Amino acid sequence: MVTLTIDGVKVQAEEGSTILEVARFYGFNIPTLCYHDELTPYGACRLCMVEVNDGRRTRLVASCLYPAKEGIRVKTHSQRVVKGRKLILELLIARCPNSKTLQDLASKIGLEHVRFKMESKDCILCGLCVRMCAEQMGSGAIGFVGRGQEREVVTPFRVSSEICRNCGACMYICPVVELQCRGVKSPGELCNSCLVITPQCVEKYDQVMCTLDSCGACVQKEEK
Ligand code: FES
Repeated sequence: MVTLTIDGVKVQAEEGSTILEVARFYGFNIPTLCYHDELTPYGACRLCMVEVNDGRRTRLVASCLYPAKEGIRVKTHSQRVVKGRKLILELLIARCPNSKTLQDLASKIGLEHVRFKMESKDCILCGLCVRMCAEQMGSGAIGFVGRGQEREVVTPFRVSSEICRNCGACMYICPVVELQCRGVKSPGELCNSCLVITPQCVEKYDQVMCTLDSCGACVQKEEK
């Protein structure tokens, strides 16, 4: 076991566990995007960043990859962390403005503006689909090609893959194509509606929906 501090609270963790696992176990909220409990951590989005002080220096690390070590002090919501997360989310939303997952995250962490030019891509390169296909579906029908701006997820040789079973797991896990935000009216706009849970919502939708993160408020906004 190792002992570390998270947001000033002393906690114990098993050696080999990540900061994210420990933080979640003790109830500290750290937002994630490319992380999934059942898949190998990939560290693509950096949204899970936290500030770690190991006694010598303080730096930002991806909590889904960084191991819980003896004596480290972790801050999950320092000014530096929140600023970094907002910047990352801005860049991701500029790439895929209609992703409901991204718009919901923006609402949650209080992002109000996107300063970058909006595009309309359908992939944030989080790699969830690739890992899902390989690790859970045992197929490996898709993978990354290219670098930098040319990087994308494709089937081998960009032809219909013979090993793809059309199971749809890649679509299911994708944070961009699975749920489309319908609250965005013009390029550059942030929806910020999904946290607006009003009594009308209970009348219009069933109670169960209102206990979920996505309450359907963006649908209301669209209908106004
Ligand atoms: S959730 Fe950790 S890098 Fe994406």
